[in-house]
Amino acid sequence: MTAVDTAPADGRTGEAMLVAEDVTMRFGGLTAVDSVNFRVNRGEIMGLIGPNGAGKTTFFNCLTGLYLPTSGRVVFDGAVLPPKPRKVVLAGMARTFQNIRLFGNMTALENVMVGRYCRTSAGPFTSIIRGPKFRREEAATRQRAQELLDFVGLGHTTDSLARNLPYGDQRRLEIARALATDPKLLLLDEPTAGMNPQETRQAEELIFKIRDLGLAIVVIEHDMRFIFTLCDRVLCLVQGKALIEGTPAEVQSDPRVIEAYIGTGPDDASELEKELES
Ligand SMILES: Nc1ncnc2c1ncn2[C@@H]1O[C@H](COP(=O)(O)OP(=O)(O)OP(=O)(O)O)[C@@H](O)[C@H]1O
Ligand SMILES: [Mg+2]
Repeated sequence: MTAVDTAPADGRTGEAMLVAEDVTMRFGGLTAVDSVNFRVNRGEIMGLIGPNGAGKTTFFNCLTGLYLPTSGRVVFDGAVLPPKPRKVVLAGMARTFQNIRLFGNMTALENVMVGRYCRTSAGPFTSIIRGPKFRREEAATRQRAQELLDFVGLGHTTDSLARNLPYGDQRRLEIARALATDPKLLLLDEPTAGMNPQETRQAEELIFKIRDLGLAIVVIEHDMRFIFTLCDRVLCLVQGKALIEGTPAEVQSDPRVIEAYIGTGPDDASELEKELES
């Protein structure tokens, strides 16, 4: 990775952890992400909102090495990220997916252990021989995975198959697996999708707890109340472009956001305003 200077050009203070510069992603004739600039500071919870198809997940994929942006670059911790998901994880970025991607036939504990293997040293040879070093490392991995299950509130699910867990628990298990990679930055793509209000509140508490560990977090969500409660700053994407970035209060009160998000009808807009006020 190439070291680069990421001093903020706009005079904002705070130490930048992730800086996306003019990131564009095209699929054939479709520009899914269009010259987006984005910055996440240490210890910050950053929200990413926008209507369906706005380019949020595509942007996440550019940030996390799944896609090589058509143009622009992503700088993480002072170095340009290579478009290789494994290297991105090793650099300290972890994510969850909009469509849950767990190993359904493995237990909750094993799923978290998988996340941990990127930080262990056992190669194929030591894994076959299973000597004392391998066994020590495996025991430590198991213990850390259980601690993480406890941390996300899934301590009771150790031996449950992932596919048998309720939906909300599967989302939390994905977060535990992401945390097992020891990230500095965690990216969550719709972590409360399909959750009931109580599970959503638990997810909110969990994200605050993760931030209190010193991690920065980027979260995509359609649940506005969740986003505006949780985030220090929010970026709204519309048709691949950054519409506005600001504090929850700034974004929430911008009429363009309401219009872009739920349509142009004044009745629709007042419904959303009512929901946000309640
Ligand atoms: N791999 C791909 N190939 C072609 N087009 C794609 C690809 N991935 C996404 N798109 C298109 O890019 C646009 C942005 O999609 P994306 O999934 O990033 O939106 P989103 O903001 O995450 O939407 P949602 O809120 O529904 O999850 C859409 O028009 C989508 O059809
Ligand atoms: Mg998406």
